[in-house]
Amino acid sequence: MSHSPATPSNTATQRLLNAARMLFTISAMAGTLAAQATPRTEPKPDWSTHDMPSQKGRIVLVTGGTSGMGYEDALALTRAGAEVIIAARNAERGREAITKIKQAVPEARVQFETLDLANLQSVRDLANRLQGRLPRLDVLINNAAIMSPPVRGVSADGYEMQLATNYLGHFALTGLLMPLLRKSDDGRVVSLSSIAAGRASLNFDDLQAERSYDPFASYSQSKLAVLKWSIELQQRSDAAGWGIRSIAAHPGVAVTELIARGPGLDSEFGKQWAVERDLYHSAAQGALPTLYAATALEAVGGAYYGPTGDNEKRGPLGFAKMPPAAADRSNSATLWQLSERLTGVTYR
Ligand SMILES: NC(=O)c1ccc[n+]([C@@H]2O[C@H](COP(=O)([O-])OP(=O)(O)OC[C@H]3O[C@@H](n4cnc5c(N)ncnc54)[C@H](OP(=O)(O)O)[C@@H]3O)[C@@H](O)[C@H]2O)c1
Repeated sequence: MSHSPATPSNTATQRLLNAARMLFTISAMAGTLAAQATPRTEPKPDWSTHDMPSQKGRIVLVTGGTSGMGYEDALALTRAGAEVIIAARNAERGREAITKIKQAVPEARVQFETLDLANLQSVRDLANRLQGRLPRLDVLINNAAIMSPPVRGVSADGYEMQLATNYLGHFALTGLLMPLLRKSDDGRVVSLSSIAAGRASLNFDDLQAERSYDPFASYSQSKLAVLKWSIELQQRSDAAGWGIRSIAAHPGVAVTELIARGPGLDSEFGKQWAVERDLYHSAAQGALPTLYAATALEAVGGAYYGPTGDNEKRGPLGFAKMPPAAADRSNSATLWQLSERLTGVTYR
C-alpha cells in the first residue's frame, strides 16, 4: 500500500473529507432522531393540497382507493407526482377510479391491485406480489373500511367483519409490507381512525362480538384498535430502529359511500345523516388530514391529525384529540400480541 506525503493541500482535502463524513454521520443520526422526537409543529390550519410537497419518485399504496377519501388520496397524490397503487376488492370499481384519475391527471401513474382485507390470504397474496415487483414502499395509507353493517358478518378467517376489515387486515398488511417500507428513506404508515374511537373500548372478553353484536360499537372498537396500534407501531419502530413514521388521521365527518354501504340510507343513522350532510366535509376535504400525514415534512410520527372545529366533525386541520382509551398504553401490548396471533403476522 502506498501513502502519499502529507502535503498542505492533501491535508486540507483530508480535513474536508473528515468534516463531510462527520456532517453525514450527524445528519444520518438526526434523520433517525427526527422520526423519534420530531417537535410537535402545529399544521397550518388552512393546509391544502397546494401545500403538498412534490411526491415525484414516491410509491404509495392506498387501501380502499375506489371511493370516498381513498379515491381523493389517490387523485391528489398522483397529481403531486407519486406512483399510486389503489388496492380494494372490486376490480370494476378499480378500473372506474383509474379512468377518472387519468381524465383529471393525464400523466398519472396509477394502478389497481385486488385486495380483500377480510381475507388474510388475499392480504398475503398482495404483499407477496408487491414484494416481488416494488423496490420499496414510501407510504402505506390504511384507509379502507366498512361501517356498521346491521347484521354481524364474519370474515374468511372467522373474525367479526368490521374488526377484520378495518383493523386486523391492515395490521397484517402493514406487518407484511414492513420490509418494503423500511427500504424507504421516509417510510410512512398512515392509518384512518374516526371520532367514533372516542366512544369506544376494547372488549377483550368478546372482541369478536359473538355474544352480543352492536354494529356501531364494533365499528368504534375497530377504529380504537387502529388508533392504539398506530401509536404502538411508532413506539416499536423507534425501539427497534425501523425508521418509519406511523401516523393516525381522521376526516371528521365526510360525505362518502360509507353509510350507504353500511347501515344504509334508510336506516335511522342514514336518515339523520341525510338531514345533516350539507354541514359536513366533502371527501376531498376529509382527505386532507391523511394527505398531510402522508406528505408534510413536519408531520409527526405517533401523532393523530384531524379537523379541529365543531367537535372535530369539520373545520381546519390540526392535532386531533387523543381519546384516553387510545393513549392508555396498559393494554397496547395485549392488543398487539393478540393481533399477531389472530393474523399470524409478526413485524420485523
Ligand atoms: N366518511 C366519514 O365520515 C368517515 C368518518 C370517520 C372515519 N372515516 C374513515 O375513513 C376511511 C374511508 O372511508 P370512506 O368514508 O371514504 O368510505 P367509502 O367511500 O365507503 O370507501 C371505503 C373503501 O374501502 C374499500 N373496502 C371496503 N371493504 C374492503 C375490504 N374488505 N378490502 C379492501 N377494501 C375494502 C372500498 O372498496 P371496494 O368496495 O371497491 O372494495 C372503498 O374503496 C375509513 O377508514 C373510514 O372508517 C370516514
